[in-house]
Amino acid sequence: MSNKKNSGGDFRYAVGAAKVPWHAVGEYYNGQDVEAMVKFLLPDGGKPGYKEAFAEVKGAVSKLAKCANRATKLTLGTQVANAEEAAKKYFGAKYACFTCNWTNGMEIAYKLSGLKAGDEVIMPAITFIATMAYPLSIGAKIVFADIDPETCNLDPKDVKKKITAKTKMIVPVHLGGMPVDMDPIMALAKKHNLFVMEDAAHGMGGCYKGRMLGAIGHFGGFSLHEVKNINSLGEGGVLLTNEDFAGPQLPGARFLGLDFTRKIKDWLYDISPLTDRFGNIQVAQNCSATEIQALGMELQFKRLDKIIAQRRAAAEYMNAVLSQEPGILTEKPDTADTYGTHHLYLLRIDPKKCKGDIQQLAKKLAEKGLTNITHFGPMYRFKIMADLGYNADAIAKTCPNTERMFYTSYTHLPLYPLTKAQLEYQAKAVVEAVREMKAGK
Ligand SMILES: Cc1ncc(COP(=O)(O)O)c(C=O)c1O
Repeated sequence: MSNKKNSGGDFRYAVGAAKVPWHAVGEYYNGQDVEAMVKFLLPDGGKPGYKEAFAEVKGAVSKLAKCANRATKLTLGTQVANAEEAAKKYFGAKYACFTCNWTNGMEIAYKLSGLKAGDEVIMPAITFIATMAYPLSIGAKIVFADIDPETCNLDPKDVKKKITAKTKMIVPVHLGGMPVDMDPIMALAKKHNLFVMEDAAHGMGGCYKGRMLGAIGHFGGFSLHEVKNINSLGEGGVLLTNEDFAGPQLPGARFLGLDFTRKIKDWLYDISPLTDRFGNIQVAQNCSATEIQALGMELQFKRLDKIIAQRRAAAEYMNAVLSQEPGILTEKPDTADTYGTHHLYLLRIDPKKCKGDIQQLAKKLAEKGLTNITHFGPMYRFKIMADLGYNADAIAKTCPNTERMFYTSYTHLPLYPLTKAQLEYQAKAVVEAVREMKAGK
């Protein structure tokens, strides 16, 4: 039997006439391993019936293992390809690449955008470290744009002010799944020949003026980390692009530049560098994702729209209750143009009207047993930035809304998978806490 059919794509599986098993040099997962995985994903919560049900599964898995074949392609196989096809279709993007996480997906986008030491990247002052990890690691300069107080997303007006001759990229972040105002960002990028990478870590399934978040910029993509709206068994990322110079390079960019379209003498492949948008060479890393990760994404992807609808209903409920209390600023609702993913509920207050700031409110909410986390802080305040020579106080002066909003006005609340009773408790507790502050309690 020829192995040719199976040998494309990954040299480690190109086995020959000796009939070495397909996975060639790795160990199989056996029935006991699969049982352990079932137990891991569906652990005993102490409810009646678990032990009996698990004993049945165990018996069935052990029977199955005796007659089943074995999964032998565990990374970068058909599941990864399927997940990418599903992503291309859903997001309307020409190219998609499934990576081990979104931090790595962004690294690929930064490389193909041609970012190098000394270049400037404009991004919001409020995000997660992952957005700026790669630029920092190569000595590019992060220029922080101030946030729009209504959405806590980067403010295009401030982006405009911060563009210099050294700017190469703008990185909008759809924080909490709320769409960034992309039109002015794309217009600025066009005018100044900049690349835009959307960090849509929270934005999977959201829309802006009829376009899917993540598929508007030159690059964009999503995190499938365990806390996101959907996940791929803990870690994962999807990178999208419509750029023809970049799309065909994505498989090589994900796996160390291995190039099966070329061979060096007496060897199975060549290693090709990446060519960035300026025609310069970039070196690929290994950002490969497993078949199990991709399967995990595919399974939850089918539920994404339904999950977002539930989250939207929860956000609308929070808005309806909280809008009754003066001083609480409710979340910007979806409109015909902007359709968020409601990853987190953005709670803002007017400290004057509430007679206290968000720090005091957060304490009260914690006392009432609420999970409230100001998920994202001013990036320029971290030690790493000071150590790299960034002056936090000087940057803070250029980001007044970030300072004011972060220290006095906003936090995030969870929306999903809260039960109706939990949601009601949460909304009521926020109102009570604000009333206590107003009463000086
Ligand atoms: C805004 C933002 N960007 C990027 C990331 C990185 O995603 P990942 O954890 O998949 O690498 C995250 C993850 O939480 C995030 O919140």
